[in-house]
Amino acid sequence: MEEKRGSWSGQLGFIISAAASAVGLGNLWRFPASVATYGGGVFLLSYIALFFAFGVFLLLTEVAIGRATRLSPIEAFRKLNRRWVFVGWLGTVIPFLILPYYCVIGGWCTKYLCAYLFAGAAPDFAVFVGSAPETILMMMIFVVMTFLFIWLGVRKGVERSNKVMLPALLFLVIAIAVFVVCQPSSREGLKFYLVPDFSVLCANGRFSPALAGKVVLAGMGQMFFSLSLAMGIMITYGSYVPEEANMPKSVFHIGFCDTLVAFVAGIIVIPAAFAFGGEELARSSGPGLMFVSLPQVFAQMPSARLVACAFFTLVLFASLTSSISLYETCVASLCDRTGISRRHSTLAVLAWTFLAAIPSAVWLGFLDNVDYFTNNILMPVCALSTCIFIGWIVGPDFVRYEATKHGRDKFPFAGYYGVLIKYIAPVAMVVIFISLVLK
Ligand code: ALA
Repeated sequence: MEEKRGSWSGQLGFIISAAASAVGLGNLWRFPASVATYGGGVFLLSYIALFFAFGVFLLLTEVAIGRATRLSPIEAFRKLNRRWVFVGWLGTVIPFLILPYYCVIGGWCTKYLCAYLFAGAAPDFAVFVGSAPETILMMMIFVVMTFLFIWLGVRKGVERSNKVMLPALLFLVIAIAVFVVCQPSSREGLKFYLVPDFSVLCANGRFSPALAGKVVLAGMGQMFFSLSLAMGIMITYGSYVPEEANMPKSVFHIGFCDTLVAFVAGIIVIPAAFAFGGEELARSSGPGLMFVSLPQVFAQMPSARLVACAFFTLVLFASLTSSISLYETCVASLCDRTGISRRHSTLAVLAWTFLAAIPSAVWLGFLDNVDYFTNNILMPVCALSTCIFIGWIVGPDFVRYEATKHGRDKFPFAGYYGVLIKYIAPVAMVVIFISLVLK
């Protein structure tokens, strides 16, 4: 096992690992469901605008905090300002809460892949999630897979596995998208996805700010989850970034890769669901879309088994690389906070994940509630506090200097960054938070 605090082998190792963390169930499961629910092309357009105006800068902020302090969230915030250590605690509690239920969904993906590989068909979702021994067993298999990579350490386990899984995942997502686009029946779904229909923002023939707000808010929540923001991951991964890495460039590559995969996942899921099940099926969201509707879609396609195996391999790789990043954040936080060895921290997180995942594995309502609580309450509070802290307490120059290594690297839009982090982001997040809580 390597030393207590690892590091990436270089800039490429960091880009691949952070991109692999970002690309996950958020891209393949949540994004297409949000597109279907929030008006197709209009949601896509607002998501892309949010990413460039907002997401990429928040990502840079978290990575900069990590590299400047070389610590995981709690100790990083303690080092910068003891009074704001609560933000670090939030960024640590969140991955501890998300990891268990993420592994339950990872277990579902493992089950679906095995079912397609060995039986040639998907299981009945309701029967499967109703069988506690089976969901617990699949969750445990998924947790153990994640554990093994973490056990090997930052460079040998996390980075090396991501270097294999991310390119495989990119290949699969593009290959399946090409297959779907080549189906003549995909045209209607592609139109719904790619051509914005602004009438979805109108009520009684007039533009409705409330409807537009809903779309933007949904896009913002999706962006946090998808870019692994406000969950301690990017601070932790940032703490392993070597001094020589060009941070603004790396962060742009990471965010671009994540957004590209989400976009291509939409090309797979939306037209497929439209073509074989119509708009109603496309609009069904969450587990409904990936674990119930898509298998029905696959069953009607030519080469159904092959396409389904490829798709669930893709989903399994994506969920594994993201659960690795959640697990790594928990381990690093435990090591930094308590001083225990990386090996003991890894075992402690294993025990926690097994136990804490059981309620989500046996009761879907529990999983939904933890997902809601972390994504709609804790994460917005964490992101908002981080923006206020950087904007008003330590000042935007802290990130500007760290990101450019005091002017060595270029930071495009450095002026805009100050306005964003001080004013635009906090105000926008207060709006999201209030509307999500009142929903
Ligand atoms: N960013 C990770 C995902 O999209 C957590 O699943």
